[in-house]
Amino acid sequence: MRARLFATRRLPIDHAEVVDTGVLVASFEADRAPTSEELVDGARGAHAIVTQVSDRIDGSVLDRLPGLRHVAQMAVGFDNIDVAACRARKVLVTHTPDALTDSTAELAFGLLVAVARRFHEGQALVRTGSWRGFSPTLLLGRELVGSTLGIVGYGRIGRALAVRAKAFGMRVIASTRRDAPFAPDGVASHAPFARLLAESDFVSLHCPATPSTRHLLGDEELAAMKPGAILINTARGTVVDEAALVRALERRQLGGAGLDVYEREPVVHPGLLGRSDVVLLPHLGSATQEARARMAVCALEDACRVLRGEAPLHPVPD
Ligand code: GLV
Repeated sequence: MRARLFATRRLPIDHAEVVDTGVLVASFEADRAPTSEELVDGARGAHAIVTQVSDRIDGSVLDRLPGLRHVAQMAVGFDNIDVAACRARKVLVTHTPDALTDSTAELAFGLLVAVARRFHEGQALVRTGSWRGFSPTLLLGRELVGSTLGIVGYGRIGRALAVRAKAFGMRVIASTRRDAPFAPDGVASHAPFARLLAESDFVSLHCPATPSTRHLLGDEELAAMKPGAILINTARGTVVDEAALVRALERRQLGGAGLDVYEREPVVHPGLLGRSDVVLLPHLGSATQEARARMAVCALEDACRVLRGEAPLHPVPD
């Protein structure tokens, strides 16, 4: 019987360049995420599926796909997948770390600059024809040099952001899971989470979405941030209590926010939508041609390995 692979979205590369001849490949063709019924319909009979962050893969989906052996998540985060349910059914789960590190760090840094220098407000002035020419007091922003960036979650992307921030003359501090200090790397120094919140002019989130990071930033933590600090989130929306963030912005505790991810994507808290002190992007962290091509190759190569009976190179960590 020929091995079958189903991709829940059209892939950004020609799969024939990566997938072994003989593997039958199909994908969901609409320009939106499939419903779980559509996903199960498309994946019926598939041995491997390539999934996106917008697909919910849980026990009820898996029970309707009895021949499935592999879920190849085309992302580094995999909180949309019930890994325990997969393991219980002997379905392997892989992801695509490394492929998107630089693209996501670049986006986080871009958001930081955009909020600090008020790009969105300046662009709105120009586009609406409301700009009246140079003014020495127009849209004054914040200089990065000499300011402190606090990075929450010092993994691949956090470290890649630290290097960029350092090159801009920022002081970089970072906190890690359970506040474990890390080996000095000459770029960032370790700071316990509470101190990081108190000292940082900019806080950027780079931790995974897990039960222990859900609402890591709520009312209390936002109130503990340095007055006027700017929050950047390119990790996962659930790490921030969005309603609490709106309250912190409304009382001007925070000076602004740059968000690429949201608690209930694609729904965004209405309290954020009209604010001029936030920049809102539609989950674009890894959205470069280079990263998305690498991610697709990485997911497909692991799928081929599993279909050939070999161990995948990028299983999700425990
Ligand atoms: C994107 O959100 C990813 O986790 O890769």
